[in-house]
Amino acid sequence: MCGIIGMVSKDDFTIQDAFKKLKKLEYRGYDSFGYFDKELLIKKTGHILIPKTKKLTRMAILHSRWATHGGVTDKNAHPHQSCDRNITIVHNGIIENYAELKNSLQKKGHRFSSETDSEVVAHYFEEKVKKKTMKQACVDFIKEIKGTFAILVMKNDDDCIYALKRDSPLVIGPSKRSNILASDIYAFSDLTDKAVFFDNDEFAVVDSEKYTFYNELGKPIKKTVQRFRWEQEESLKKKFKHYMIKEIMEEPIVVKRLLFSLKTEQKDNFERLIRLIKKQEKIVFVAAGTSYHASLLGVYYLHKCGVEAQALIASEFENFAFLDEKSLVIPISQSGETMDLIEALKYAKEHKAKIASVVNVPYSTIQRMSDVSLNIMAGQEICVAATKSFVNQVTILLSIAKEFGFKVNLDTLPTRIESVLGQKNKIKKIAKSISKKNDMYVLGRGLSYPVAREVALKIKEISYIHAEGMMGGELKHGTIALIEKGTPVISLISNKDHDMLSNTKEVEARGAKIIMITNSMPGDIRLQTSNDGKFGILATIFGQLLTYYIALERKLPIDKPRNLAKSVTVK
Ligand code: G6P
Repeated sequence: MCGIIGMVSKDDFTIQDAFKKLKKLEYRGYDSFGYFDKELLIKKTGHILIPKTKKLTRMAILHSRWATHGGVTDKNAHPHQSCDRNITIVHNGIIENYAELKNSLQKKGHRFSSETDSEVVAHYFEEKVKKKTMKQACVDFIKEIKGTFAILVMKNDDDCIYALKRDSPLVIGPSKRSNILASDIYAFSDLTDKAVFFDNDEFAVVDSEKYTFYNELGKPIKKTVQRFRWEQEESLKKKFKHYMIKEIMEEPIVVKRLLFSLKTEQKDNFERLIRLIKKQEKIVFVAAGTSYHASLLGVYYLHKCGVEAQALIASEFENFAFLDEKSLVIPISQSGETMDLIEALKYAKEHKAKIASVVNVPYSTIQRMSDVSLNIMAGQEICVAATKSFVNQVTILLSIAKEFGFKVNLDTLPTRIESVLGQKNKIKKIAKSISKKNDMYVLGRGLSYPVAREVALKIKEISYIHAEGMMGGELKHGTIALIEKGTPVISLISNKDHDMLSNTKEVEARGAKIIMITNSMPGDIRLQTSNDGKFGILATIFGQLLTYYIALERKLPIDKPRNLAKSVTVK
């Protein structure tokens, strides 16, 4: 949540160049945005608008906000400034002791102009630099501040940016005549394939020629420059109207790429992960949102071949996980930065569990916290709703289950996916027929239960229609009371599952409008697979397309739905 950018260069760059970098991080939060370059300060609500000015600069900080403390207003937009306007900051994270700090700074005469926790940072540095250097102030900040932060600070009389990090992601993209600081590598992947990641409680002083990292005591430290590979062309929208549909249409290609990598560049890591599953006594998946639904499918597939596993929601991990050194925790995450997962992994480490992650973004925090990590190779996903990343998460889980005896031929998966994509006009018609409804239900059993939850989540987040994804068997324990004449019920029936069929008939008898997705019976959409594993993926893709076309019909902001962000870096 929140994207931050800092640019410092030996050569002039335009404000527009800087905003284009920020635009690449907009999926991290898009309530408001801001810019500062020592002369010009912009703070505005709404999606990022690239200014028309051709003004040049050599140093700037920028921010795209997902509001936590303080409403969505121009004043609460970042950057925030000190009373004397000498210090300007952008922040991603939460300053937990901001109320105490604000109080004591107010007593010293500081006047605040926003309702945010972040503004306190600007006044904090203003107060500190009355007696200390910025470097000493950074050491104090790390000692005295509670909470999470990726912060960039500009001081008007210095030609550098001060950057500090705890828990929220921060990385430098170094190049010959400039350095870029950003929340993630997407911001500069068109300029350089080099990255230097901040670790917790480190800070750096960054100018146009060099960067120097310091530990929490202010001692200079050496950092490794990592090289990353990124399929840049994938972030271009090409001929599609929205990233969501572009990313759905990429699914056959990204599945192929993933399967190939598991036999080649990721082979060793894949085998290490399989060995860990065999060796450790307890397997616990942990994830949030769509990735949690993928991990539920992972549990199902593993259980089918005799491997016991469980899946926990990241934000509740500590309350429900019982771990020791014989446990293997498998975090599943698109971004690799979800704060609740990072917290869960810290807990796992404290309990000496091993960590084997499945992530999309290389070098993300979760990947770096893991004993072994597999990359899902989905390429950059820009639409807030996860689509191709889910498909590749499940493909990896199927590949793992296959090693334990789950029967599935993954080589045919890309063509099976194409066959669902080929039914898009039929799905469009279904979408049109239900797009004005206020409520809908998605039913599943066994493998189609996690899929039902995922399809319902997609409908909620992108189409803004209340949807519940539930177990067919649970329906009559309450929810069936909500079924009225015409209520859409999407029923996911794999392989002549007669119990699911009965549950479908029960709601049909009460007037529901049934949309039946099957692979072995007559239905509204027929999926071309007799395999339960592949059914899970294909039924989800049906749901992704359905959601897309409902949202299109309702003229909604598909790629950036209200109140959401792609990377959830606060608890
Ligand atoms: C957010 C995103 C979802 C995603 C979830 C977990 O809510 O909007 O699409 O499933 O976070 O994120 P992760 O990056 O850990 O998979």
